[in-house]
Amino acid sequence: MFTIAIDGPSGSGKSTAARLTARRLGAQYLDTGAMYRAVAVGCLDSGIHQDDPVAITDYCRTMDLDISTDPDDQHIRLAGRDITAAIREPEVSAWVRAVSTNPDCREELVRRQREIIASGDFVAEGRDITTVVAPDAAVRVLLTADPQARMRRRGAELGDKVDAAGLRDQIIGRDLADSTLVNFTVAADGVVTIDSTDLTPDQVVAQILLLAHRAGIVR
Ligand code: DC
Repeated sequence: MFTIAIDGPSGSGKSTAARLTARRLGAQYLDTGAMYRAVAVGCLDSGIHQDDPVAITDYCRTMDLDISTDPDDQHIRLAGRDITAAIREPEVSAWVRAVSTNPDCREELVRRQREIIASGDFVAEGRDITTVVAPDAAVRVLLTADPQARMRRRGAELGDKVDAAGLRDQIIGRDLADSTLVNFTVAADGVVTIDSTDLTPDQVVAQILLLAHRAGIVR
């Protein structure tokens, strides 16, 4: 069994690259960001306040979360309810900071993520996969892209629904909030940096597959 770990900031293209890589290798795919988002959805629904880390942690430890790991069929359920679309709502994107900056909550999510990736061949992506969740992964990649490219990609994803200032906040503001407890801007020892600024998704995947080949996990 192998793990390929991919970290990077929002807009670096890591979800697309991770999903495509998993598909190419017949491996499973874990979107750890979706798990952080799911906690935010659950807390919002339960009326938990953003300034109540104890209640957020309690929720996180007891929630009934089910996330699919098929790269071609992504869905996520909370106590049986499908929240696949809900986790992408702007309100959730704003709330999730209260989850990702909560160390006890992170510990619980890391525990669940390790359990999931121990069950098979995985491509897992997030912010702390190469350093905390799977530091022993056969392939560890930090995917970067310059801020302009990341804003352009996120703008295209959102269908130009947000203005330039809104985009800047989503990219630069989130990087700042997200990096309070984890460092995903500098590659840790043994982590390979791939700059996707001028690469297509297929070119990024080709580089990851080359690393997987060198690591001896694919022929
Ligand atoms: O990648 P994303 O935008 O779906 O991530 C949602 C949030 O969760 C974002 O604020 C970063 C955070 N996150 C994290 O802190 N650690 C991870 N492994 C994955 C996501």
